[in-house]
Amino acid sequence: MDLSKKIREIQDFPKEGINFKDITTLLQDKEAFTYMVDTLAAQLKDLNVDIVVGPESRGFIVGVPVAYKIGAGFVPVRKPGKLPAEIVRYEYELEYGKDALEIHRDAIQPGQKVAIIDDLLATGGTVLATAKLIEELGGEVVSINFLIELAFLKGREKLSNYNVKTLITYH
Ligand code: PRP
Ligand code: MG
Repeated sequence: MDLSKKIREIQDFPKEGINFKDITTLLQDKEAFTYMVDTLAAQLKDLNVDIVVGPESRGFIVGVPVAYKIGAGFVPVRKPGKLPAEIVRYEYELEYGKDALEIHRDAIQPGQKVAIIDDLLATGGTVLATAKLIEELGGEVVSINFLIELAFLKGREKLSNYNVKTLITYH
């Protein structure tokens, strides 16, 4: 299935010059949604993933069904001030702005195998921050999987130490 046909493009959102990739049109399509989850899950086969980590908020949408499908746990990485227990925080650059991400300190045990799943690889800042948080807790990032890669933003270079897979690439 060609999932790229299910992505809607919105010009100049959220600001001028950005061609936003809207995944809601894919998610609402039952065949496309199932295919997306099954394909991402298949990429993680044989990696013995203990935990899927998804960065808020679109990483939840894509990561949770994949975690369920492969029988892994799910850990949210959230924007500041959302997680109630003791957290670890990491600051990073975003495609449009600056932000920080947090994870619960007890969310991952040392040596656990972790896959990061997010909808989109742009500059790579979000997922690099997520990987740093996982590593600070002693987790091993065995795979990073995206639905979409904006290759022209060269986020992959930032993630060159990792096993990165994407389903749809925009050049
Ligand atoms: C978007 C997208 C990725 C990130 C990619 O999230 O869902 O998480 O940007 O950009 P990067 O590779 O340059 O870091 P956003 O922070 O806009 O929030 P959302 O997921 O809550 O919509
Ligand atoms: Mg996001």
